[in-house]
Amino acid sequence: MATAKLAATARMLGLFFSRQERCAPQKIYDILSTHNNLAENSLYLNLGYWENASTYDGACQALADILGRHAGIGAGDHILDAGCGFGDQDDYWLRRFGPAHVTAINITSSQLSVARARFPDPRLEFTTADATALPFGQSSFDKVIALESAFHFEPREAFFGEAMRVLKPGGVLALADIVVARPPQTAFARHVAKIGRALWQTPECNVYGEEVYLAKLKAAGFGEIKITPITPFVFAPFKAFAQRRVMDAEIRRRVHPFLRHVWAASHGGFDNMEYLIITAVKT
Ligand SMILES: C[S@@+](CC[C@H](N)C(=O)[O-])C[C@H]1O[C@@H](n2cnc3c(N)ncnc32)[C@H](O)[C@@H]1O
Repeated sequence: MATAKLAATARMLGLFFSRQERCAPQKIYDILSTHNNLAENSLYLNLGYWENASTYDGACQALADILGRHAGIGAGDHILDAGCGFGDQDDYWLRRFGPAHVTAINITSSQLSVARARFPDPRLEFTTADATALPFGQSSFDKVIALESAFHFEPREAFFGEAMRVLKPGGVLALADIVVARPPQTAFARHVAKIGRALWQTPECNVYGEEVYLAKLKAAGFGEIKITPITPFVFAPFKAFAQRRVMDAEIRRRVHPFLRHVWAASHGGFDNMEYLIITAVKT
């Protein structure tokens, strides 16, 4: 256990000091593994929607539910889930909305090995792939969904282009995503933001606000774009929950001490950010 913690510490330091051309989100998700999280029974890895939730699992499922409803997932749909984590939302969408098939992709293959073992459902297929270079033909899906993952995609607009290609005409792209409302104002705040991007392996090219986001969706050819801010129901309640949860004996036992601190404190870095649900149609 002590050796595993030391190895994780070394890998985290590597994230801060390595000079790499492109971000590699799989590095942080390999470190998080299945135990460095705040979940009760699920393996969700998002910030959750806390309007009526009091548990992490409940809040994450509520966020998956909102996104599924905004996407309009219906019976018979073929869904692509880009950045599927451990597959919890895919299992939920199948049970809740009854689509015909979900193809769930992830750049982190270690998460997919776990997801396959957890959800052996013939309607659910897990594939290792990069959301910016999708291994699917054009017009393959009714809905393309990204639940709190598109800020990793380098660059995000490459994913928008790929989503446009693989969606059927009239298909919907739906995202739960984070944008910057106000750039950091001080050198210290800019430095903190840079450290956050290094830890979470999010490329600087994806740091912009709602207007640029909208322009990039339009440039990819999308229409009927709807943006619904849900910020007050995400960051502040997640932070309050995380600060309590990291004190639990179970979390102190299984979560790396540095990551406990990150979960409880880093979301101060979200003060200048907006959490959005976005839908756009291949018109
Ligand atoms: C914050 S987690 C969200 C996971 C899941 N959607 C959830 O809500 O629990 C982001 C996910 O995106 C995946 N990811 C990051 N970059 C990716 C890329 N370029 N292509 C596919 N998946 C990617 C990560 O491996 C991780 O599973």
